[in-house]
Amino acid sequence: MSNIWIKKPMEAYEADIKKSQLKRVLGKWSLTAIGIGAIIGGGIFVLTGTGAYYNAGPALALSFVIAGIACVFAALCYAEFASMIPVAGSAYTYAYASFGELVAWIIGWDLLMEYAIGNIAVAISWSDYFTSLLAGYHINIPQYLTMDFLTASRGFDKVDALLKAGQTLEQIKGIEGIGNAVDAYQAWTTAPLLGGFHLVCDLPALVIVFIITALVFVGIKESKNASNVMVAIKLAVIFFVIVFGAFYVKPANWSPFAPNGIAGVLKGVSAVFFAYIGFDAISTTAEECKNPQRDLPRGMIYSLILCTVLYVLISLVLTGMVSYKELAVGDPLAYVFTKVGADWIAGIIAISAVIAMATVLLVFQLGQPRIWMTMSRDGLLPPIFSAIHPKFKTPWFSTILTGFVVAVPSLFMNLTEVTDLTSIGTLFAFVLVCGGVLILQNNQNIERKFKAPYINAKFIAPALFVLIWLAFIIFKPEALSSLLATTDPANPTETGWEVFKHKIPLLGFIVIATVLVVQCFRKSLSLIPVLGVVTCGYLMTELGWTNWYRFVIWLVIGLVIYFLYSYRHSKLNRAG
Ligand code: ALA
Repeated sequence: MSNIWIKKPMEAYEADIKKSQLKRVLGKWSLTAIGIGAIIGGGIFVLTGTGAYYNAGPALALSFVIAGIACVFAALCYAEFASMIPVAGSAYTYAYASFGELVAWIIGWDLLMEYAIGNIAVAISWSDYFTSLLAGYHINIPQYLTMDFLTASRGFDKVDALLKAGQTLEQIKGIEGIGNAVDAYQAWTTAPLLGGFHLVCDLPALVIVFIITALVFVGIKESKNASNVMVAIKLAVIFFVIVFGAFYVKPANWSPFAPNGIAGVLKGVSAVFFAYIGFDAISTTAEECKNPQRDLPRGMIYSLILCTVLYVLISLVLTGMVSYKELAVGDPLAYVFTKVGADWIAGIIAISAVIAMATVLLVFQLGQPRIWMTMSRDGLLPPIFSAIHPKFKTPWFSTILTGFVVAVPSLFMNLTEVTDLTSIGTLFAFVLVCGGVLILQNNQNIERKFKAPYINAKFIAPALFVLIWLAFIIFKPEALSSLLATTDPANPTETGWEVFKHKIPLLGFIVIATVLVVQCFRKSLSLIPVLGVVTCGYLMTELGWTNWYRFVIWLVIGLVIYFLYSYRHSKLNRAG
């Protein structure tokens, strides 16, 4: 079993690069465009409103800055790895070189959560925007073809109970928070029956995934061209929203700036983190870059910085146009313009949201097969996963399989079930990539064309650690005492394990952070990757017990597959 920790040697990567049959067509601007394509999507169009309303208020701009900084730490580490190992597998490849095979497998399996499950979330959001866009032009698709099964059946139960209690549909529509359930009720009751089964599904989500899969199947060049055009359109609309919206800003709306204090701002960070996911997807195209070691780091960092600036400006404009107390809506950008009487802009925003989400789909649909391809080359997946189409020069089998893996669940799955899973999976990959940079920090045998700036964490990390504890002891002692409490004052019926289990992620984080600080002192670790591990690790703890529980089950399933198949077929293990 010792060879589960075996690391893939650098020479083996050089051989992979030589053997690669993919077409090298991407330069630094195409990569930046792919990055922007992957980053700006449903997140900014959907989460900004609820992030401001429930958590940060106008200080959501600060949440975006903090989330952006956490991503920059991770991006610098991705960039360093991309310049060391310009192979297509992204975090999987980096983990193989730094932690060894088992962790590499875990991260490869985990990336399915970011790419495939992330794309299920994006496909569902795309379908929502698309159907309401069509409805704006009086084209109505039957509701049972635009909704997932679970939403329809839950909505039916809710509305049915109210109808039985004597309310009418019109009355129910008017109840705050229940209005949408009426659509779900109608979808459920009008759906055709197949042997007693209500045929409710999200058809537009399926169709868009098939269209994008076909594009990705045909070639990287075609995908690049399509992505460039769509990215140009969405950037133009976002600039326009910022500039035009600025005329409607009333500074009075920014006061109070942070109604829920620093805690609200920090909650806002995890709420909007989804909007940043995607810059790392560029690294999956390493074998299709003209000069990956130079251009991948640039593409990642340029796209991330540009998107952070845009996100901060958008959230300032949004919360300046109307009070944050009105922003508990699913389409905040369109809403604020309707609110100030510029309905025609709301229409433009809906079109650009549809385009923006299509580019996210495209990049993730491009990334997942390339990760599988790399895992298959290492023997961890069957050889067909790395089969390259003779004409289109794309990993054809993995591409088609990704299409199915995303399209079929997007017909039936519920949006809220999948977005947080995507965030937890992505953050885990970020933590491991930053950790990998720390492990290889002193390895002088590897050529790096880009290096995350080295700042010695020996004293800085312990000083920050002590400062944070002191700040809690002085300003928030109640937070510390609640950490170990086994009763919850807000929910007195829950005690013991039911209360304690929610604290496990945070307690685990504190233990890991403490060990890391000691290591910083002993080994003079580099500050940027350390901050990457800590910030992304902390954001993971904010995602709640249910997500952690599902995440752990997912990883256990992955481990079973590893020991049943991958461990036995690994090329590195056999050689060793
Ligand atoms: N960042 C991507 C989005 O917001 C995943 O849709």
